[in-house]
Amino acid sequence: MTSGELRKRFLEFFEKRGHKIVPSSSLLPEDDSSVLLTTAGMQQFKLYYTGAKDPVKDFGARRTVSIQKSLRTSDIDEVGDESHLTFFEMLGNFGFGDYFKEDAIKWSWEFITKELGISPERCHVSVFKGDPSTNSGQVVPEDTESIAIWKSLGLGDDKIKKCGREDNFWGPTGDEGPCGPTSEIYVDGVEIWNLVFNQYYCRADKNLEPLKQNGIDTGMGLERLAMISQDAPTIFETDLFEPLIQSIPHKDIENEARAVRIVVDHIRGSVFLIADGILPSNIGAGYILRRLLRRAIRYGKVLDFDKNFLISLAEKVIKMYKEFYPEISIKREDILTVIQKEEEKFYKTLEKGLKELEKTLAAKKEKIISGEDAFHLYESYGFPTELTRELAEERGFNIDESGWETSFKKHREISRAGAEKKFGGHGIATGDRRQATSFKEIDKITRLHTATHLLHQAIHDVLGNEAEVQQRGSDITPERLRFDFAFPRKLTPEELKKIENIVNKKIKLDLPVFSAKMSKEGAIRMGARAFLKDKYPNEVNVYSIGDPDPSKAYSKELCGGPHVARTGEIGEFKIIKEESSSAGIRRIRAVVE
Ligand code: ALA
Repeated sequence: MTSGELRKRFLEFFEKRGHKIVPSSSLLPEDDSSVLLTTAGMQQFKLYYTGAKDPVKDFGARRTVSIQKSLRTSDIDEVGDESHLTFFEMLGNFGFGDYFKEDAIKWSWEFITKELGISPERCHVSVFKGDPSTNSGQVVPEDTESIAIWKSLGLGDDKIKKCGREDNFWGPTGDEGPCGPTSEIYVDGVEIWNLVFNQYYCRADKNLEPLKQNGIDTGMGLERLAMISQDAPTIFETDLFEPLIQSIPHKDIENEARAVRIVVDHIRGSVFLIADGILPSNIGAGYILRRLLRRAIRYGKVLDFDKNFLISLAEKVIKMYKEFYPEISIKREDILTVIQKEEEKFYKTLEKGLKELEKTLAAKKEKIISGEDAFHLYESYGFPTELTRELAEERGFNIDESGWETSFKKHREISRAGAEKKFGGHGIATGDRRQATSFKEIDKITRLHTATHLLHQAIHDVLGNEAEVQQRGSDITPERLRFDFAFPRKLTPEELKKIENIVNKKIKLDLPVFSAKMSKEGAIRMGARAFLKDKYPNEVNVYSIGDPDPSKAYSKELCGGPHVARTGEIGEFKIIKEESSSAGIRRIRAVVE
């Protein structure tokens, strides 16, 4: 079935069941400054779940259905494999104080197995097994209702997987909002549909309150559904991507295939972002657009593209998607102009920046790029740090991450002072929303930064006896932390769980975080950890968690900060992936929520 047909069938299926078809909202959320971009279909409906807005008044129904443009950057460095994307289309049906688990589950099953004719043999589902210990100490019970409903549809125990909070509990988007247990449908082992049963409101302090009315929020990625329906081996071989991939000459070898996928994903996302009024910049959503465009240009270079190659690709995206998303056709000129300008701007500095980078690398004795050098490339040549990092890593170099943080912090203080001046001391939240959002990102980075220190110590707690674990790198974006360390083998799921639990325990204890200046020697003697010891001056700053005296503190590290004041501010910590980064080096990715 073509993707056009899938969209149509989905909307009509739920329209017939009393749902009002609602157009996709903008990728730039309108009333929700707590998130940078639209990442899910439910976002435009948040206020209908709480009862703050009346769906009957606005839609003439308590049920809606939509196909939502969504963009997530949490997996940006996985894009290029077979299944990860930044931009995607989310098919979703929603109920506000109306129907609940029974109808939601039955309709989803009917849509997949009857409407699309996918054999039940190929499917299995997951349900929430309950969580005895949420952050606030509240117990969230097992979802026995959903289990019973799935059984009534003929699924045996072997087809119903019970999972915990990491996998089968969703939301909120941003700092607070509706959330609840989920049930997911898998086809051929691929998760395609997430049914969320909104029963709770998660407050900013992370306490869950029961919602006054139950809500339904579902999301199914069109790209994955097309892959299943079209029997394509990967999402890139569906009609949503194939024509774009085919238009790019490339060899069938791994690094070229990866580069093509990155270019196609990023340009598709950029077209939709620009159509929604986002312009490349150094903050907020504009920075995400810049990152996508500049990465696309850089990977285009791997494929030896001519200048301006993005323009012709963007034109193809517009042609393919304009029927369903007329806004990209209306904004065609804007889209092409913005891309061309950004491309010219980046090209101007790219060559120079690359030369500068090569010069920097050639002058190094050690395989380390200082934070200042990386920051200089960012400021003077518009190199996103991850680009410098990627280019450096390809040549076997690392960035001195704590030095980079110090440079970043200096820059942040200057721009914060500037922003405060600009808004007449009235606080940034009432000023430019995107500027405020950018500070939200910094707060997120700060929470992730302290979480990194806890993770570092927890890794030592769990693995320390087996081998001398050593930090090899750390990278924090607003979406996730990444921590590299030397260790000879893959970690077991039990070890990862142990590490995660320790970090969450330290968060729950709400330990105070202290910072003090001391001599480097003294700090090391008190057991403070240091990444690249020799790079530090004689007087250093030490962050200690749990006790002002580093020798008594749970975690102590030489570090420039910034950090949260108490660990409770971090929120829930989750390890999302453990993998090898290079020989003998393990890499952990984690998020905080
Ligand atoms: N809001 C849910 C998700 O994005 C459906 O997975």
